[in-house]
Amino acid sequence: MKVRLENVCKTFNNNKEVHEVLKDISFDVKEGQFISLLGPSGCGKTTLLTIIAGFKPATSGKISVSGKYVSSAGSDRGFVFQNYALFPWMTVADNILFPMKEQKIPKAEREKKLGELLEMAQLLGKENLFPHQLSGGMKQRTAVIRALACKPEVLLMDEPLGAVDFQMRQILQEELEALWLKDRTTVIMVTHDVDEAVYMSDRVIVMSTEKGKILEDMNIDLERSRDRESEKYKKYKDTLTNILKKALNRDDSKVV
Ligand SMILES: Nc1ncnc2c1ncn2[C@@H]1O[C@H](COP(=O)(O)OP(=O)(O)OP(=O)(O)O)[C@@H](O)[C@H]1O
Ligand SMILES: [Mg+2]
Repeated sequence: MKVRLENVCKTFNNNKEVHEVLKDISFDVKEGQFISLLGPSGCGKTTLLTIIAGFKPATSGKISVSGKYVSSAGSDRGFVFQNYALFPWMTVADNILFPMKEQKIPKAEREKKLGELLEMAQLLGKENLFPHQLSGGMKQRTAVIRALACKPEVLLMDEPLGAVDFQMRQILQEELEALWLKDRTTVIMVTHDVDEAVYMSDRVIVMSTEKGKILEDMNIDLERSRDRESEKYKKYKDTLTNILKKALNRDDSKVV
């Protein structure tokens, strides 16, 4: 098992009030699996992802990656933040080299890896541009290969397409899938978009606002690349949308 979560709990203390966000969350992720965490706003998706990343400690419970318990951030886990979070003052090349420098990877190796990653993401020739000079897709690919630069065993992505409009979003999902298919790193992606979850994932886990309980754990058994118009695809979407509506406990609620 690549990632194992055992009874992960998280409580925050806000103004002397104890706020329980995650309670006994347990699941395993197989090597090479692409999973999405889906759930209403505030249900604890980001909290869970940042605990797996080691940016925040769990209140109790255990997380292991490749059999090793994790308690702090490490290069075995890459992270893609919402809105890409590229360093605006650095070129594409420097953004990608940054984590490798932090990891003290020797210069010659860094340069070689940079070339490989740029080629993989079809960004050759763009390495000296700054983030504001890139298209949305290029920014996203830069953020993903920056996270892949240290060869993480697990790639964690928090709503990597959160700020992108509907049509651009579909194009970027396809680009992200194509990039992922090249090396099939184990992925845990947070989203609140049902279509995105069905399109991208091998498996979707639906969390609830009720103490981060898991409402559903569903394999998406569809060939890639997926046809968004197929009956089976629509059925997965409908099923997950209904589960989410129930999670919100409002049948008229809009789930995007
Ligand atoms: N540092 C913190 N201190 C106190 N409470 C926090 C902290 N971080 C998160 N929370 C609380 O934990 C809950 C879950 O937040 P989280 O950011 O994980 O939700 P989310 O599922 O990612 O939501 P969204 O879809 O809106 O991004 C919220 O009620 C939030 O107020
Ligand atoms: Mg969040």
